Amino acid sequence: MTVQENISLKAYNTFGIDVKARRFVSITSFYELQQLLKTEKDFFLISGGSNMLLTKDIDKLVVLIDIKGTSIDREEENSVYLTVNAGENWHEFVLWCIAQNYGGLENLSLIPGNVGTCPIQNIGAYGVEVKDTITKVEALEIETNKLVSFSNEACNFGYRNSIFKNDVKEKYILTSVSFKLTTKKHQLTTSYGAIENELALLNITAPSLKNISDTVIAIRKSKLPDPKKIGNSGSFFKNPVISKTQFLALQKENPAIPNYPVSKTEIKIPAGWLVEQSGFKGRRFGDAGVHEKQALVLVNYGNATGKEIFQLAEKIQKKILKKFEISLEIEVNVIA
Ligand code: EPU
Repeated sequence: MTVQENISLKAYNTFGIDVKARRFVSITSFYELQQLLKTEKDFFLISGGSNMLLTKDIDKLVVLIDIKGTSIDREEENSVYLTVNAGENWHEFVLWCIAQNYGGLENLSLIPGNVGTCPIQNIGAYGVEVKDTITKVEALEIETNKLVSFSNEACNFGYRNSIFKNDVKEKYILTSVSFKLTTKKHQLTTSYGAIENELALLNITAPSLKNISDTVIAIRKSKLPDPKKIGNSGSFFKNPVISKTQFLALQKENPAIPNYPVSKTEIKIPAGWLVEQSGFKGRRFGDAGVHEKQALVLVNYGNATGKEIFQLAEKIQKKILKKFEISLEIEVNVIA
């Protein structure tokens, strides 16, 4: 455990924002983390760096959680229980599960980031959310340096949301996540339009886990920029939920508005559609831009600062508020 000074964080955040950490340490074991917590209480955590927008240098000690390891806890007739340490790369873990014929995560292929942060925003894609397979999250309580276990219920999962973003925000360091996956009777979710269409095109009628994963990877690659090539943090905004009354009024003006009912009185509208209708899709302001194929994704073409990306986000929010009377909520964690 060596503390380094004046380290660029460009390689540690998928937006590729070049800010500096005054001090930086990489933690590779649970023991090291507990040792660190004995002397340091005020630090800035980074893991996969895939859901944050850094807008300035970090004065605190930056702690990279790089604890690796996966263990099989037990097996039952049709399921396997696994515990995965926080520093494992999410997509590599998903691919490993598919190779073992463990089902449940295939729709979540190619999501950037690490296992340890997947519960925080309850990552989701193509009709599946990670909360459907999580049995337990373990975390070190910063104040007491004790390991605490959160059951699935205790995590209070919601759409892109959990207790770790709310009641206990910044009080814990997530160290491992446990999953229950299927080993035989896999429950596949293919109803999401794009997956069904792709499978039909390939004439696949009884898809395997790998077929689904490959399809999701192909869809994501066709729409979403690869952070290794163009800096980004996936969806920058949440899909807003509006009242049915407001929706019906909007639909009169915009008959093609895509919509997903959430309850009898509420409707979810894709933020990407709102951004596109506001004329921002594919636009570029210096090195900050809106992706040309998915307007929900803000991108860094090279040397954009976090502030420039944030200013672009604010410009989009203002326009959408004026045009549609909808407030877009930012989904990524803005570090200001
Ligand atoms: N749309 C547009 N213009 C765009 C983008 C989308 O009109 O530029 C419309 C599409 O035509 C479609 C609708 O919006 O009718 C929904 O688009 P899409 O299926 O691409 O999904 P999304 O709602 O934009 C959500 C997640 C993604 C996830 C996909 C697939 C959020 C905030 N985003 O996007 O998650 O991959 O569904 O399930 O919920 C992420 O969180 O980083 C992420 C990429």
